[in-house]
Amino acid sequence: MIEMIPFHYTKDITVINKEQFDAHIRLYKGYVDNINKVDEQLQWGDVQREQANTTFSYYRECKRGETYALNGVILHELYFDNIGGMGMPDEFTKDQLVRDFGSLQKWQEDFIATAKASRGWAVLSFDQRSGRYRNISLDSHDLGNIAYSAPALVLDMYEHAYFLQYADNKSEYIDHFMKNINWDVVKERMVF
Ligand SMILES: [Fe+2]
Repeated sequence: MIEMIPFHYTKDITVINKEQFDAHIRLYKGYVDNINKVDEQLQWGDVQREQANTTFSYYRECKRGETYALNGVILHELYFDNIGGMGMPDEFTKDQLVRDFGSLQKWQEDFIATAKASRGWAVLSFDQRSGRYRNISLDSHDLGNIAYSAPALVLDMYEHAYFLQYADNKSEYIDHFMKNINWDVVKERMVF
């Protein structure tokens, strides 16, 4: 059973207002409920494993739902946890980004471009195969991730993340996000 993490709106969160935050938390709760439903089916339900196939089968739907909902939970938790900061990385974190992107500014420009190009998520992730950080674009919770990687910074680019407050002004949302990154949290995730 996966439990919801109780996120609370604080004055440190400047990227989104409380109305936008609360609406987003309700959506996050939906993913928690859904992964628990899928897990229950997989453990106790009649999921028709003997009928499993790649075109259409109930078991295939369970498998699609499993990673979609679970990644939906994980990515939202990483996102809510990495907002509410001052927007400036410390020297250690900066060094990682300079090593892999050339400069902090180049990393920022690339992350912003990644966010604008993404239909779902922009993620700064450590690619363990290449031994370096990449800004990756996930068009969906379960589409576009690197199999062997560790996310350090997550930005929700679904319209539901900003439209209530920013309407179609996506650039302003991204700009406010960049100024509100909690780099202490990002640094804790930089374990490699
Ligand atoms: Fe979201």
